[in-house]
Amino acid sequence: MPKHKPLKIALLPGDGIGEEVLHAAVPVFSALGLNVSLHKAAIGWSCWQQEGNSIPDKTWDLINSCDTALLGAITSKPQREAQNELPAALRCDKQPEYISPIIQLRQRLDLFANVRPCYSFSADKGFDFCIIRENTEGLYAGFDYRPIPQPIRDLLQQDPHWSHIAAEEISCSLRLQSRAGLIRIFQFAFKYAQDHGMKRVTLADKPNVLRQSGHFARELFEAIAANYPAIQADILNVDAVALWIIKRPEAFGVIVAENMFADILSDVGAGVMGGLGLAPSGNLGCTKSYFEPVHGSAPHMPAHHANPCAMFLSIAMLLEHFAFTKEAGTIRGAVSRVIQKKQVLTYDLGGCNSTEAMAQAILDQCHNAPSDQSFYPHHNEPIMNQLSQLAMFTSAEISDALDACGVEGALTGINPLAAGLKAIGPAYTVRYAVYKEKPSGFNNAANYIDTVPQGAVLVIDNQGQTDCTVWGAILTEVAQQKKLAGTVVYGAVRDVAELRATHYPLFCKSSTMRSGKNRVFKAEEQGTLTIEGVVINPGDLIFADNNGVLCIPLKMLDDVIHKASNIRRTEQHILAAVRAGKNLAEAREEFGYAQPWLGATKNEES
Ligand code: NAI
Ligand code: MG
Repeated sequence: MPKHKPLKIALLPGDGIGEEVLHAAVPVFSALGLNVSLHKAAIGWSCWQQEGNSIPDKTWDLINSCDTALLGAITSKPQREAQNELPAALRCDKQPEYISPIIQLRQRLDLFANVRPCYSFSADKGFDFCIIRENTEGLYAGFDYRPIPQPIRDLLQQDPHWSHIAAEEISCSLRLQSRAGLIRIFQFAFKYAQDHGMKRVTLADKPNVLRQSGHFARELFEAIAANYPAIQADILNVDAVALWIIKRPEAFGVIVAENMFADILSDVGAGVMGGLGLAPSGNLGCTKSYFEPVHGSAPHMPAHHANPCAMFLSIAMLLEHFAFTKEAGTIRGAVSRVIQKKQVLTYDLGGCNSTEAMAQAILDQCHNAPSDQSFYPHHNEPIMNQLSQLAMFTSAEISDALDACGVEGALTGINPLAAGLKAIGPAYTVRYAVYKEKPSGFNNAANYIDTVPQGAVLVIDNQGQTDCTVWGAILTEVAQQKKLAGTVVYGAVRDVAELRATHYPLFCKSSTMRSGKNRVFKAEEQGTLTIEGVVINPGDLIFADNNGVLCIPLKMLDDVIHKASNIRRTEQHILAAVRAGKNLAEAREEFGYAQPWLGATKNEES
């Protein structure tokens, strides 16, 4: 949709904490200066209590006229309570039947895909997977009976067990799956994996028990998987998937499942994220959509206690869906930083702050976005998440993880200019070469700095030569203005005292006073560098601190973070064991120090 036309969003606060979290998070639209028009409408239990209709016609008109909707949460109660809470005037012969507004929205707008991303906010558990729930069919298709209808009675008469049970003593739910319904959800799942750089799609089903329907789904799943040879496709039992989400969440990409199976799995997913207060979702169809936190209205929660993060992250999903990619990244980054800082947290995350206080902390962080999230040409959410996770590790852990991956990443001989400097970010590369014939003029060698994006680490390769400088005070000033994450110089710098005073993260081989301006020239920008045998491609991650400089190849980032967190865990176990009186050799043996990147799991699990 063209960005000059405002995005029209229906705001549907609903019941209980839905109203609170929506109210707390909605200021993010104006905080980010987004071109949106917001229109509030009533939905939910209070509408049912007042007029016997949980989505009044006026609300439907608004929803239909908007590009999308943002929902807080809904209270739903069983049929008997629903009827009892109707106004007396409506409790006549033709009593309205209560149908959850969630179901009405999903069915009437044909929102067949419910997308529930699950990612970690802590470096100890790096995972980023997404549960895609079929939203219109399956066990929740609405064919749920008591008493059972005659055709089903007839069917049961053919079975020796069920034919002996009185019809009034039986209830029945049908798991309905259509070819078209399965095909569209599987296609959606693979497309989602491809668009989000996920390498695996798992169908969570129960084919060994539900043999006919399982086989039907399997054939269609495999046929669609064949169109995506680069994506690993597998079918696992849903109960096993629940277990593995808890044990190895980082192993998954997309998990697709029928309505009820995915409903249950997505609460497991919310659990590994850290709770329902963190889990966002989007409901998508071919043209329509709405977005909401996974949680419900939590009617028993005291006021101002609800965690607003799931609502902020649902807004981020909405924005990403409408191509406001950068703003979506800003919100995710802000939520992530507030959680990691641990200064302002609601009760469910171990804090004691109110919904509004945590929302304000997130809004403040949105104003303070540290880096340009658009460094990578195709916005890549996993990388953005991983970048914030990297910051939690020490260079020792990253270095060990690189070794475990068989990657040489240390740029030996390049050191921090001062103690306490740290730079993490994607590499922007510049290579210098020596003039064969020395020019007579005074050449401007540094005519690249204006194009380096915010948040990047500039890596300057002057072939290790320390007989002239390629960096000094003016470049540092510009780099700070542009909010670069730091500079790594395989060569020499000057103006050392001034540079130290700025605390700009500068890493170099040495310093000298001899100018590079008419001795070396910029030979290449954003090309591949090889420094001390380490290959650095533009966009690879630079991790530099007191101990020196490391380069993490972009394609290894996932693996490095996973191994680094295992190494941390192993070392923590060993330290705890030594403090508890074990000798070091025993502790190392017990927690698998020979291969710490496996994460001491063998002993924990036994
Ligand atoms: P719930 O999600 O409302 O709450 C379950 C528990 O999760 C809460 O007691 C609380 O401990 C925790 N929790 C949920 N959201 C939280 C947040 N933002 N911050 C901190 N903790 C949070 O589920 P429950 O209790 O099963 O259902 C309550 C009502 O919500 C029911 O009427 C149900 O039908 C409805 N519901 C609506 C949904 C929706 O609007 N999409 C989804 C799930 C339930
Ligand atoms: Mg649920």
